[in-house]
Amino acid sequence: NWTMDDFIDLQVNSIRKEVGDQKVILALSGGVDSSVVAALLNRAIGDQLTCIFVDHGLMRKNEPEQVMKALNEDLGVNIIKVDAQQRFLSKLAGVADPEQKRKIIGKEFIEVFNDEASKLKDIKFLAQGTLYTDVIESGTDTAQTIKSHHNVGGLPEDMQFKLIEPLRSLFKDEVRVLGKKLGIADDLVWRQPFPGPGLGIRVIGAITEEKLHLVRETDAILRDEIAKAGLQREVWQYFTVLPGFKSVGVMGDGRTYEYTIAIRAVSSIDGMTADFSQIPWDVLSKISTRMVNDVKGINRIVYDITSKPPSTIEWE
Ligand code: XMP
Repeated sequence: NWTMDDFIDLQVNSIRKEVGDQKVILALSGGVDSSVVAALLNRAIGDQLTCIFVDHGLMRKNEPEQVMKALNEDLGVNIIKVDAQQRFLSKLAGVADPEQKRKIIGKEFIEVFNDEASKLKDIKFLAQGTLYTDVIESGTDTAQTIKSHHNVGGLPEDMQFKLIEPLRSLFKDEVRVLGKKLGIADDLVWRQPFPGPGLGIRVIGAITEEKLHLVRETDAILRDEIAKAGLQREVWQYFTVLPGFKSVGVMGDGRTYEYTIAIRAVSSIDGMTADFSQIPWDVLSKISTRMVNDVKGINRIVYDITSKPPSTIEWE
């Protein structure tokens, strides 16, 4: 009778045996997979693990703090947090094409990671949160790239590290069970999917600090209201998008000319296909009122009622 406790024991032993007294590095994204690897390695080898957590400024509201709390404060995982917001923003300035943005974010991520890694001495191993599904998928040839899914898992081959991939035999739901067993906070273990390029592909077109702010604040309101309505496990993915145009509105006695925010909420199994979620009108109504009242610079909220296909989940 195989249990997750057996799995943890087995992995802890084999990681200790393989690593010995050497050092391991890990790119922590704040996602479920890399967080679970971090917690598992922390249990096995403690501070022989160094996690590098790149804050690219494209994460959701309070996300960097939540990751630090759940892993560093609560579990004692050794994390170097790199504040690289300005570096990413300046590289992305004026870039409107989605694929170009993905490339820049991916490349910059690797460079920041490399810069930090090269400051550390005597690192022998690189740990990654590769799952069973990643192992299968990378074995097949995708005929057509609709979006180049940059993931922080994709670090360059030319680094001279030996790979440690303790989740290679697990599916996502098993990784969540493992994360829970290792004591990772629920909000991290049950996190909805979040793309590597983050809010960078939810501001349509060129990214500015102001636009990021509008997406981040409205997203926080959406998440809060979805949680209050108890829908967070029912809706697979939910977020806001800033299409980038302005429209006319009225507030008090005055005309406004402000940005529109789109709400995207879908149900899905694996992200390959998706149906738009039928969030109750009263919940949407509350969300809309709060966004327009609390976030300056927004005067219109629209709800995306397309499924995938023909749309994609993200707008870029
Ligand atoms: P689409 O928009 O292609 O999204 O229907 C399907 C799923 O993939 C996520 N997604 C990404 N994840 N890097 C990622 O790591 C990316 O560049 C990226 N683009 C989309 C999306 O959030 C959804 O879960």
